[in-house]
Amino acid sequence: MDSPLPAISLLLLLLFSLFSAAYSSTLGVQYISKLLQIQDRERAPPTLQVAAARAVLHRLLPSHSPAFEFRIISKEKCGGEGACFIINNHPSSYKYGAPEILISGVTGVEVLAGLHWYLKYWCGSHISWKKTGGAQLFSIPQSGSLSRVQDSGILVQRPIPWNYYQNAVTSSYTFAWWDWERWEQEIDWMALQGINLPLAFTGQETIWRKVFRKFNITNSDLDDFFGGPAFLAWSRMGNLHGWGGPLPESWFHEQLTLQKKILARMYELGMTPVLPAFSGNVPAALKDIFPSAKITRLGNWFSVKSNPKWCCTYLLDATDPLFVEIGRTFIEEQLKEYGRTSHIYNCDTFDENTPPVDDPGYISSLGAAIFSGMQSGDENATWLMQGWLFSYDPFWRPPQMKALLHSVPLGKLVVLDLFAEVKPIWISSEQFYGVPYAVLNTTGIF
Ligand SMILES: *[C@@H]1O[C@H](CO)[C@@H](O)[C@H](O)[C@H]1NC(C)=O
Ligand SMILES: *[C@@H]1O[C@H](CO)[C@@H](O)[C@H](O)[C@H]1NC(C)=O
Ligand SMILES: *[C@@H]1O[C@H](CO)[C@@H](O)[C@H](O)[C@H]1NC(C)=O
Repeated sequence: MDSPLPAISLLLLLLFSLFSAAYSSTLGVQYISKLLQIQDRERAPPTLQVAAARAVLHRLLPSHSPAFEFRIISKEKCGGEGACFIINNHPSSYKYGAPEILISGVTGVEVLAGLHWYLKYWCGSHISWKKTGGAQLFSIPQSGSLSRVQDSGILVQRPIPWNYYQNAVTSSYTFAWWDWERWEQEIDWMALQGINLPLAFTGQETIWRKVFRKFNITNSDLDDFFGGPAFLAWSRMGNLHGWGGPLPESWFHEQLTLQKKILARMYELGMTPVLPAFSGNVPAALKDIFPSAKITRLGNWFSVKSNPKWCCTYLLDATDPLFVEIGRTFIEEQLKEYGRTSHIYNCDTFDENTPPVDDPGYISSLGAAIFSGMQSGDENATWLMQGWLFSYDPFWRPPQMKALLHSVPLGKLVVLDLFAEVKPIWISSEQFYGVPYAVLNTTGIF
């Protein structure tokens, strides 16, 4: 590798972020509220969310399955506007064999966060990843003698709507070889931690094949575009291409099937999975098929012995009409394949890649085209962007940053201040120039 170790590999694999309440614009708040209303309306029916939450309990603690009753309640029951969970002694708990604890929550995730709260603060248990202690449940009293909570119950409100999880490279650092069994464990863990806004990036190469086929790009044209299974995070972001590839044919089928299971489970639990969107990253073959398309090359993020075979990925210019067409087709193909969306899409065009031009006008047209691609495929699209670029690359001075952030209507772009525990950008950028943002919070809701 010629370049120094990419700084992103030093980032923590996993992030819990809390959405900052410090919106500096009422327009932003209005738009986010509208989005939340749409998401609430489209959430899985309460019976399905309860069944999905019960299945998590059954996997975690089968011996205590009958001791808990779960209910989905409306936000109005939370004593405010936001989401919450409520833990009560079950009204029939005096009867032999009846459930002892009743947990109510606005979604399946809320219910399971309530279960975790109860098991942690009332039974002294610990629920974590295997590598950080796993599920330590031995202190939980036997069914029939669970600790009672105070008669008035416990109400825990979520101060802000979303709890986000992952960064764009977690899929390669951590998830690359996971099967459904391992994913199921992780989604259970997410719900118990109260995470409701996870990235859902699995299987996107299968969708990309379908998209590029519509633009006359063959599967073999894509062999040197996608990275191998362990390097997809970087080929998705245009940092490199083809490295470790080509992907075996079986990969495309298996990953799409896996993604459908992941999404179905996330929706059943009432989560808001974040799907990927088009960033301008295109295969070399696009140049040959559309010779007049405006295509530039990104810089050398990675190469071996200075061989450009794996570096300097092609970027379709945002001002080219093809840009919005490909962006729209990508959203449409995902909708067709998955049947639904939660309207939040991730896109990081310049993750450790410096834009070819630093003219704010150009940067603004790029942002507008990215969003236009999303919106023409889903009129209610919101763009979720990882703010890592602003920490990493001195290219992003105030005029460039402002141009990108203000290239879409206020409230339709949300920035994650990805490195805020070390270098908070929200402080140096006048709170992202009024754009809603999220800060890292490793405390989560616990
Ligand atoms: C793909 O190729 C076919 C046949 O040559 C052509 O009719 C069609 O317009 C091409 N599609 C695009 C998007 O260029
Ligand atoms: C977008 O939201 C509006 C208003 O809630 C709704 O009527 C419409 O069906 C939504 N569109 C999509 C594609 O979900
Ligand atoms: C993180 O969340 C906790 C619990 O909600 C809160 O007390 C703390 O102030 C938050 N930290 C930051 C940096 O926002």
